Amino acid sequence: MGRRRRSSVGTASSILVAVFFIFLQQAPVIAKNSSSWLTLTGNAPAIVAKGGFSGLFPDSSGDAYNFALVASSPDTVLWCDVRLTKDGLGICLPDIKLDNCTNIPNVYPAGQNSYLVNGVNTTGWFSVDYSMKELSPVSLVQAIYSRTFRFDANDYPILAVEDVVTTFQPPGLWLNIEHDIFYGQHNLSMTDYVLSVSNRVTVDYVSSPELAFLRSIAAQLGNSNTKLIFRFLGENNAEPSTNKTYGSLLNNLTYIKTFASGILVPKSYIWPVTPDNYLLTYSSIVMDAHTAGLEIYAADFANDNILSFNYSYDPLAEYLSFIDNGIFSVDGVVTDFPITPSEAIGSLSLLSTFEFRKLHPFIISHNGASGDYPDCTDLAYQKAADDGADFIDCPVQVTQDGIAICMSSANLIVDTTVIKSPFASRLSSIPEIQDTPGIFTFNLTWDEIQKNLKPAISSPEFKYSMVRNPRYMNVGSFMRLSDFLDFARDKPLSGVLISIEYAMFMAEELGFSVTDAVISALDDAGYNNQTALEVMILSTNSSVLVEFKQKTKYKLVYKIDESIRDAIASSITDIKEFADAVAIAKQSVYPVRDQFTTQQTDIVFKLQAAGLDVYAYLFQNEFVSQPWDFFSDATVEINTYIQGAGVDGIITDFPATARSYKRNSCRRMGKNAPGYMSPVQGGGLLQLVSPQSMPPALAPMPVLRDSDVVEPPLPPVAPKMALSPGSVDSALPPSPPSSALQLVASLTMALAMACASAILFV
Ligand SMILES: *[C@@H]1O[C@H](CO)[C@@H](O)[C@H](O)[C@H]1NC(C)=O
Ligand SMILES: *[C@@H]1O[C@H](CO)[C@@H](O)[C@H](O)[C@H]1NC(C)=O
Ligand SMILES: *[C@@H]1O[C@H](CO)[C@@H](O)[C@H](O)[C@H]1NC(C)=O
Ligand SMILES: *[C@@H]1O[C@H](CO)[C@@H](O)[C@H](O)[C@H]1NC(C)=O
Ligand SMILES: *[C@@H]1O[C@H](CO)[C@@H](O)[C@H](O)[C@H]1NC(C)=O
Ligand SMILES: *[C@@H]1O[C@H](CO)[C@@H](O)[C@H](O)[C@H]1NC(C)=O
Ligand SMILES: *[C@@H]1O[C@H](CO)[C@@H](O)[C@H](O)[C@H]1NC(C)=O
Ligand SMILES: *[C@@H]1O[C@H](CO)[C@@H](O)[C@H](O)[C@H]1NC(C)=O
Ligand SMILES: *[C@@H]1O[C@H](CO)[C@@H](O)[C@H](O)[C@H]1NC(C)=O
Ligand SMILES: *[C@@H]1O[C@H](CO)[C@@H](O)[C@H](O)[C@H]1NC(C)=O
Repeated sequence: MGRRRRSSVGTASSILVAVFFIFLQQAPVIAKNSSSWLTLTGNAPAIVAKGGFSGLFPDSSGDAYNFALVASSPDTVLWCDVRLTKDGLGICLPDIKLDNCTNIPNVYPAGQNSYLVNGVNTTGWFSVDYSMKELSPVSLVQAIYSRTFRFDANDYPILAVEDVVTTFQPPGLWLNIEHDIFYGQHNLSMTDYVLSVSNRVTVDYVSSPELAFLRSIAAQLGNSNTKLIFRFLGENNAEPSTNKTYGSLLNNLTYIKTFASGILVPKSYIWPVTPDNYLLTYSSIVMDAHTAGLEIYAADFANDNILSFNYSYDPLAEYLSFIDNGIFSVDGVVTDFPITPSEAIGSLSLLSTFEFRKLHPFIISHNGASGDYPDCTDLAYQKAADDGADFIDCPVQVTQDGIAICMSSANLIVDTTVIKSPFASRLSSIPEIQDTPGIFTFNLTWDEIQKNLKPAISSPEFKYSMVRNPRYMNVGSFMRLSDFLDFARDKPLSGVLISIEYAMFMAEELGFSVTDAVISALDDAGYNNQTALEVMILSTNSSVLVEFKQKTKYKLVYKIDESIRDAIASSITDIKEFADAVAIAKQSVYPVRDQFTTQQTDIVFKLQAAGLDVYAYLFQNEFVSQPWDFFSDATVEINTYIQGAGVDGIITDFPATARSYKRNSCRRMGKNAPGYMSPVQGGGLLQLVSPQSMPPALAPMPVLRDSDVVEPPLPPVAPKMALSPGSVDSALPPSPPSSALQLVASLTMALAMACASAILFV
């Protein structure tokens, strides 16, 4: 029984290797100039995979251990939390209780017991009550409810420490030992176990938060190469053998050095955070440890933790602050997601400041750096420019007095404080724009908006209680289109992207030609002939792009606003008539089913084959916005769209993350890139879910057809909007007399109709 189950570890593993990455390589360890790391030894920091790749698979399961080695740096160390069975065998389990991390309550419903664990009466299922044989019907399951449970049906056996070594042959093994006193009370000796196991297999690290245990093992291990690591828990927690707090033990690292070669600390010991989750300045602990001759490892890294706001939800940024800050580096990190420190250490740290800006693929901001500042404010645009966006974007809306402004939505409720302003009563229902009532930009003058409203940061993942940068909740100033164009002109950008929606509504109901307003604003700001900046015009409505194609030479981007699984050839030919590029939803490239990608479509290839550039939207760092396949790591997602799908640009709320990706040193290595920098294979992860655990299938996404693409031309501008003389924005062209306007409009209409029929009947 036990034998059969254990051999299944290997089977699952080989599937895993086969399906997951597209260009999987047995990656070489990246050679670094060792003297450039600020670790104690000068070597690159170690990556320690806690329970394997436990962010994805159940902690300490075969797939978790194997995947850590497949998906991370090849020198990744595997961590095992050792527990002892009744017959004295060491097994790997994340918790002293088996309740949450295994299905034992189903296997032995009456197996619950109460024991004193470090003085606390604890009730649950304990390994000391079962022999290894008795545990063989028990399977590991996901213990963290925010992670996927779909692998639980894979029946992962509990692994003995030796199984981990013989099956996976890790380049390093880390045993974490806790509750020595508890096992002693059950006549089991951790010390004996650790000594015997280290005679049989190479144990690279032994860590423990129990001082007496570590001291005794230190005396007995003698000259072995095993590193002994004293683990600090919470500063106010009492160390069980001395009853001193960990905080007070920190005061004498010289003492720790008498029996340990290193320490392991919660990451907040190094970078403390405020109660509202902002980083304080770093403590001196890394330098102190190094001065005492101790290595220092940082614990508790997980991409699906709520990170400090300073990292803008980018877990890679967090690692870099521990290993590549120019002042110190920890000697290793203990993580549930070892792929991310692999990227940080292997390809993103110690880089020169080589200017990668303006190189393909493009980074296009979405409402500026709206992950960090309120959408479309001066601060959001400044940050996007600073963070290395190639294009910054302005979604154009119009005010009551006919001024074109940059605002993410026509509805001011979305990104301003209008609800709390004197204009909260200006609610109206505009079915052309949205189904629910709103307070719209065209019902307030620019003056009213600027003087009475404040920007409000967006929080697209609010339903998961994930908000963006609360300290910057209402900062920044709104911008007119003309302000935006002036701002962008002297920035080191490739260009600007202007997006236009509801052109027909504006023309018919507001008497405002948004296309003309944009064209003259661009002319006034010198974009048509004086600046080196490229202009892109984006719209979901082809009639807008047709009009720009007739009047300007700007690059035209057609946004397909629904997720599609394919596009019929003639619809692509249609698009080619009026656009140079297409913006498609991420799901059109890697469709998603219950947070798992299902495949990779060939839509990018088809569009590119027709000569269209393809930009994918919308990239966000919050891990809940990403399918499981990307490991809660925005960089993995970006890499997959760029290397795996070959998109020409990405549209993102977080340009800094895309920029940091663009700088990585593996990007140009192609097939020689290490495994962790290989793109993920669409649908790969789903192949590891057993049939009974499959998420329900979804209705297929639609196919793009000509009728979706071809639109009637823009209607004539109704001469409705009474612009008071004093408020005419300089960006607005003088209104032509209405007869002339009618004529131009009908001419345009006729022209466009001719185009449309030509398109339809080729
Ligand atoms: C490594 O870095 C050190 C200090 O920056 C430098 O002196 C040395 O030449 C470098 N070695 C190599 C092989 O690049
Ligand atoms: C562990 O499982 C128990 C039920 O057996 C549950 O009440 C508890 O919330 C779980 N704890 C965690 C941390 O998952
Ligand atoms: C420990 O808790 C269990 C369950 O609450 C209880 O039955 C038992 O009496 C307690 N033991 C001690 C020593 O307090
Ligand atoms: C441990 O061993 C001692 C002496 O052999 C015995 O008295 C005691 O009951 C044992 N305790 C347990 C928990 O097995
Ligand atoms: C540990 O310290 C606490 C508070 O200082 C005290 O109440 C407790 O009795 C001590 N325990 C031991 C085992 O010394
Ligand atoms: C720190 O520990 C060392 C080694 O055990 C000891 O010599 C020294 O006196 C201790 N220092 C303090 C301040 O306790
Ligand atoms: C973290 O962000 C806050 C708010 O922007 C800032 O005040 C603080 O200095 C930052 N912390 C660090 C260590 O940079
Ligand atoms: C807002 O403007 C639209 C279009 O001009 C108009 O129909 C609507 O009545 C206005 N709403 C308010 C509250 O002024
Ligand atoms: C640039 O274009 C504007 C508007 O089309 C025109 O008025 C201006 O003379 C042009 N300037 C140059 C230097 O060509
Ligand atoms: C696109 O614009 C045209 C007017 O130019 C309008 O008739 C059409 O309904 C619009 N399409 C959509 C999907 O809004």
